[in-house]
Amino acid sequence: MTQNRQIFTSGGAPAQRFEIRLRVGRGFRRRVGAPHRLAPAGLLLIGVAAVMVLAACGFSTATEGSQPGRAAEAEDRDAETTGGAGHERPHPEFELTEEELAELTETLPDEIAEGITSDARGFLDAVLPVLEQDPELTRLVNKDLRLPEDYRPEDLVELDEYRDRFVLNRSGMQLSERALEPLSEMVAEALSEGITLDLSSVYRSIDYQRDLFARYERVHGREQAERFSAEAGASEHHLGTAVDFGSITPEFADTPAGGWLQENAWRYGFSLSYPEDKEWLTGYIYEPWHYRYIGRPATELKRAYFDGIQHYMLVFLHEHRDTLERRLRS
Ligand code: DAL
Ligand code: ZN
Repeated sequence: MTQNRQIFTSGGAPAQRFEIRLRVGRGFRRRVGAPHRLAPAGLLLIGVAAVMVLAACGFSTATEGSQPGRAAEAEDRDAETTGGAGHERPHPEFELTEEELAELTETLPDEIAEGITSDARGFLDAVLPVLEQDPELTRLVNKDLRLPEDYRPEDLVELDEYRDRFVLNRSGMQLSERALEPLSEMVAEALSEGITLDLSSVYRSIDYQRDLFARYERVHGREQAERFSAEAGASEHHLGTAVDFGSITPEFADTPAGGWLQENAWRYGFSLSYPEDKEWLTGYIYEPWHYRYIGRPATELKRAYFDGIQHYMLVFLHEHRDTLERRLRS
């Protein structure tokens, strides 16, 4: 399996620096024809005039004398935002220029990056409600980024108490409360259309996953087991928000339940984690049964700007959530 296109690096979110970039980088794609833009020369003139007026009035561009670090940062940013294409801020709620947004997209495939930068305002509109969600919903968990050994969601509910809502394939199943109502609504809606969505696997502890993987490894060998099973700590099932439906076989895709989920799950905030033909990217074969609750704002963002691929979106959020949050106007 080739992992070289997996764009996540396990070193954690890199510190974002707001360096002035004179180079118009590979990822910088200027939106053309935006009517509200001022020409760069105009911006420059206004900038120079503003600086002269401020200097004459004895003002400083530093914001807070008591916070020299922040003042310097603000000065850097002022320097960045005067003159030159791409320095417009596409969204009133974000202190983020088009060029800076383009830089955030540089590790994404060109088509996805292009879609984001050519509609920066729409993209940031769609990102906003995702930033307002519980970050745990879009937490990145994969082969490169495992959860700590003692990880356990604090809001697990016993699904046996909800047997009136769900068809469970065994007792003792648990689910994060975050996903309880959306899952209930989705299952009820499917049922009203004659589709039963039975639950086969929900929350799994790290110890349980360790045993499960070891069992698969004994039967199929390590190389094959890794293609369809996460190792301990690397499974989205640890989050309590991932749900396996039905048979847990490739044939599930062609069942009415599999088809219904493909079409409708996103409406309830559920996202297919391991799509078809993306093993080179996600590390896993197509799992038409494995959905994760990431919230409706996130499924909308994924569909509109990440080509429907959860992996790209979660990696992007993992790497840039801090920057985007810092740049939100308070
Ligand atoms: N089957 C998925 C990859 C898991 O084990 O979490
Ligand atoms: Zn699963």
